[in-house]
Amino acid sequence: MKLSVIGTGYLGATHAAAMASLGHEVLGVDVDAAKVAMLQSGTVPFHEPGLPELLADQVASGRLRFTTDAAEAGAHADVHFVCVGTPQRKGEYAADLRYVDAAMAALVPHLRAGSLVVGKSTVPVGTAARLLEQVEAADADLVWNPEFLREGFAVEDTLRPDRIVIGATSERAAKTLLDVYESMVTAGTPVISTDLATAELVKVAANSFLATKISFINAMAEVCEATGADITSLAEAIGHDARIGHRFLRAGLGFGGGCLPKDIRAFMARAGELGVDQALSFLKEVDSINQRRRARTVDLAREMCGGSLAGMRVCVLGAAFKPDSDDIRDSPALDVALSCQQQGAAVRVYDPYAMDNARTSFPTLAYADSAVDAAVDADVVLHLTEWREFAELHPAELSAVVRERRIVDGRNTLDRELWTREGWTHRALGRQSL
Ligand code: UGA
Repeated sequence: MKLSVIGTGYLGATHAAAMASLGHEVLGVDVDAAKVAMLQSGTVPFHEPGLPELLADQVASGRLRFTTDAAEAGAHADVHFVCVGTPQRKGEYAADLRYVDAAMAALVPHLRAGSLVVGKSTVPVGTAARLLEQVEAADADLVWNPEFLREGFAVEDTLRPDRIVIGATSERAAKTLLDVYESMVTAGTPVISTDLATAELVKVAANSFLATKISFINAMAEVCEATGADITSLAEAIGHDARIGHRFLRAGLGFGGGCLPKDIRAFMARAGELGVDQALSFLKEVDSINQRRRARTVDLAREMCGGSLAGMRVCVLGAAFKPDSDDIRDSPALDVALSCQQQGAAVRVYDPYAMDNARTSFPTLAYADSAVDAAVDADVVLHLTEWREFAELHPAELSAVVRERRIVDGRNTLDRELWTREGWTHRALGRQSL
């Protein structure tokens, strides 16, 4: 089938390449000419495992092209996927829909009668109903088909999703989208067909649940710290209950990124508009618990340094909001790094992939070329993004260069026994020192 994908960020670029790999002819559209040129040359402008190979193959096959011209998309495709971002508005909780509105304004005048627009962006409930009027005026259809991919697993999640949700007002429109996804449906992927509002809500409900699960275990970590209990044993024990499960129960520095934090805030803002703010007031607490973990990590570092970070040298391991990504949007690691700096510390940051993004957005921090380099003369080491490289790092490599053997494990993934055996004072969120 002939498809266009509008917006070629983490979601759109992955979706475009994945759809081409299913055999469709795909045109990726973005207003950023530099990004389009890069993608057209087969290069991915961000770090996402498996995507560079997939993209290069699909561009080489001729099934995948990129353009800045929305009119070309209108002429090329029968199905248009809208994959632009919906960031948090500055100074507000609500989502900023300017990119969705701009994408629709550019596309709608060029839509062919009978074509289908598929919304994949995460939007406040009610947005699709508003856009439907514009699309129907062009004699086209609109469905909402939220995306659940995780950065770091984007290709896998796009090609083998755990469910396909389609919100539609007509059976014909839903059927067209199912044709696009035919191979996934044949492979047994569950399909949930519903209305537009439910499809929009499924996405924010899922992210709110995940955020709540993380903040729940982090709240338990706070209680563990106050009682001398151990959060990792507690999480393991409750996770064996199949109704609870182990996933998303890892206590530590909490969630960041371009999705969970802004989605729960936009959801609260939308609930307020709808007069059901009380229903979601618990999300405010979810957000607060999450922010407190960042402050607590800085407190731990300060306590270990004798009560003040002024003049201390702090080594920060990690800048990305999670491993296997170079995304630094609302990164807990960089938030902690900046707080330490504001308290008078000299901070050196190392991350395997997110250095360029971090340098550009946070030029006042100092950066190092390796974990060992970042740790030279450090008074305390903060492990804030759980890259495999850091789990595999032997403490002896850092012992040789640091001023003091002190480490805060903000992600509860380092081998506490090993670090302690090597003479390090080890502190972690929700756990006692050995
Ligand atoms: C999240 C959702 O998991 C996806 O399903 C969704 O499609 C996506 O948002 C989106 O809305 O686009 P993502 O932001 O890529 O995906 O990252 P996650 O793997 O969900 O991790 C989010 C944050 O939670 C990270 O900072 C991670 O370190 C943290 N986390 C995760 C924990 O602190 N503890 C855990 O146990 C799990």
